[in-house]
Amino acid sequence: MKTIRTQVGIVGAGPAGLLLSHLLHLEGIESVVIESRSRSHVEERIRAGVLEQGTVDLLNASGAGDRMRREGLIHHGIELRFRREAHRIDLHALTGRAITVYGQHEVVKDLIRARLAAGGPIWFDAHEASIHDFDNSNSRIRFMHQDEEYEIGCDFIGGCDGFHGICRPSIPTGSLQFFEKVYPFAWLGILAQAPPASEELIYACHERGFALLSMRSPAVSRLYLQCAPEEDLSRWPDDRIWHELHTRFQTRGDFPMRQGPILQKGVTAMRSFVAEPMRYGRLFLAGDAAHIVPPTGAKGLNLAAADVRVLSRAIACFYRNRTETLLQRYSQICLGRVWRAQHFSWWMTSMLHRACGGTEFDHRRQLAELEAVTTSRAAATFLAENYVGLPFDSLGEPT
Ligand code: FAD
Ligand code: PHB
Repeated sequence: MKTIRTQVGIVGAGPAGLLLSHLLHLEGIESVVIESRSRSHVEERIRAGVLEQGTVDLLNASGAGDRMRREGLIHHGIELRFRREAHRIDLHALTGRAITVYGQHEVVKDLIRARLAAGGPIWFDAHEASIHDFDNSNSRIRFMHQDEEYEIGCDFIGGCDGFHGICRPSIPTGSLQFFEKVYPFAWLGILAQAPPASEELIYACHERGFALLSMRSPAVSRLYLQCAPEEDLSRWPDDRIWHELHTRFQTRGDFPMRQGPILQKGVTAMRSFVAEPMRYGRLFLAGDAAHIVPPTGAKGLNLAAADVRVLSRAIACFYRNRTETLLQRYSQICLGRVWRAQHFSWWMTSMLHRACGGTEFDHRRQLAELEAVTTSRAAATFLAENYVGLPFDSLGEPT
């Protein structure tokens, strides 16, 4: 077995693991990242698209924001569409802040490039990862790479391996509490080679179900349709998808959907999940490994960034001052933001989706809620503040 020594061993090269490694490097702390998939797989995996202002500021301050500043699309508002009418929420007028539309896979590419340029090791195609003795300072990560066994000895482990990773399940049973809600619907998402039909994102609540119009660039649309969790994609030929999108986005005026070749199709389940605390001994969970939100609030990637911002500062504080005070508060600090995002994501989801088995009462109540959000400045401000992201200093996170 080959051994490697580092300060922080990180499992997972998604946004959480890569950004943690990058932020630690800026603090002068060494880390090694292992990732079960190939570099091209993680760089091409289409996931989130909306960055909060705080995430954008963090990427810029860390020196990883150059391409995002050039290619990201800054949006000052979003549209809510219901009863075939468009209602704009002016995020900027309500909060002074904006969002940036820039694909998660582009963030991942930028961070991988930054880490490799700084000589930061990322072990792609690392299989059979396991973590050991993380209740003390002799923490170790084992994995296989090209038929060789490796062991990383480290002071801390960053459990950044997403919802289906190995870190959270390695924690002894009974040490964490789990809170979970599974939704009775899912999203059928497509990526299409077609200019977006709107400059801003549209969240549509329709009798036939929710639909979302987003984009990745001025030439590529990202579109979602509410569907059943067990939806069979073979029942969704391209024509049926476009027809359903036309129907759900239709307005009383003219709304021409722009069609083009569909480049990717997939179904995403919807879940709310929190593991508490986000720490066990020297293992710190961050991002989707610790919590999942339904994508309606566009919060998952942003929460992952907020977690590792806190974690990198807590680890830096440990090495600088030999104090664990911030590490001890890591979970509590992160969970403040996590639960606010849980509430917001659940609220957006329940306001916009048609629940199966839902009654006409439920639908009328949803429309009344949308009416309130689009006519009351107070209600619109609540949506806007949460959508653009709560500032770091409003939730007691270290500045
Ligand atoms: P991941 O991105 O899941 O990364 C974990 C990494 O760990 C992966 O690369 C995985 O391969 C690796 N890994 C797993 N197991 C192992 C192992 N055993 N060994 C080594 N490596 C391992 N969020 C938003 O903020 N805004 C949005 O607009 C948004 N839209 C979304 C749309 C969709 C369709 C989906 C699915 C998600 C969306 N999200 C959104 C959520 C967002 O994509 C996630 O919250 C984000 O990916 C979390 O990052 P992470 O690094 O914690 O986890
Ligand atoms: C996306 O662009 O993929 C996206 C945008 C907004 C969301 C979810 C996903 O709420």
